[in-house]
Amino acid sequence: VVGGTRAAQGEFPFMVRLINEENEGFCGGALYAQDIVLTAAHCVSGSGNNTSITATGGVVDLQSSSAVKVRSTKVLQAPGFTKETYGKDWALIKLAQPINQPTLKIATTTAYNQGTFTVAGWGANREGGSQQRYLLKANVPFVSDAACRSSSSFILVANEMICAGYPDTGGVDTCQGDSGGPMFRKDNADEWIQVGIVSWGYGCARPGYPGVYTEVSTFASAIASAARTL
Ligand code: ARG
Repeated sequence: VVGGTRAAQGEFPFMVRLINEENEGFCGGALYAQDIVLTAAHCVSGSGNNTSITATGGVVDLQSSSAVKVRSTKVLQAPGFTKETYGKDWALIKLAQPINQPTLKIATTTAYNQGTFTVAGWGANREGGSQQRYLLKANVPFVSDAACRSSSSFILVANEMICAGYPDTGGVDTCQGDSGGPMFRKDNADEWIQVGIVSWGYGCARPGYPGVYTEVSTFASAIASAARTL
């Protein structure tokens, strides 16, 4: 996260860090259920049995001795995910054991696809920067598809992607390694609800290029049915 501040321990208890077999953090995710992580399709290599991913939860400090580390058992990459456009950029990871933390509910309608969102992650804190030990957070306003399209020269699939950031000034954004993590806001019940998944951007926090997120509401029913098969 570029232009952010440190999250407090317990502030976003549904956040998980995904770690590969080389012990490198490569993506973020959120607890959809205590034993299912919602992340980005481009964070995983396909679908099937997979025990190569470790989800670290329960901490803002990845080096904390109270970190909970659980292995994956299965991965389900969104059917139809395409590297060309980054369309349908969502995936589920089934965990060997539950992580005993609150989950993050996902938006099932477009009602919350507006306003100001929160993003969080252990990714780079500047373009080209290194991965972070402590969870960072930032707020990013919604950017309309029209404004996002005019500022970003890349393919925007309107109903599959939602943009957020500061196209006029830049300065605040997600960045490499934040992918898969949630973009969320408060709902009418004052509870966190996930509206996006960190997906892509042009560099990080550049003026003219807001962050692009998977539009969770579009895929809510597909995510729910996929989760039931895990
Ligand atoms: N694709 C990147 C990743 O794998 C995330 C990029 C987000 N970029 C942005 N400017 N919002 O971590």
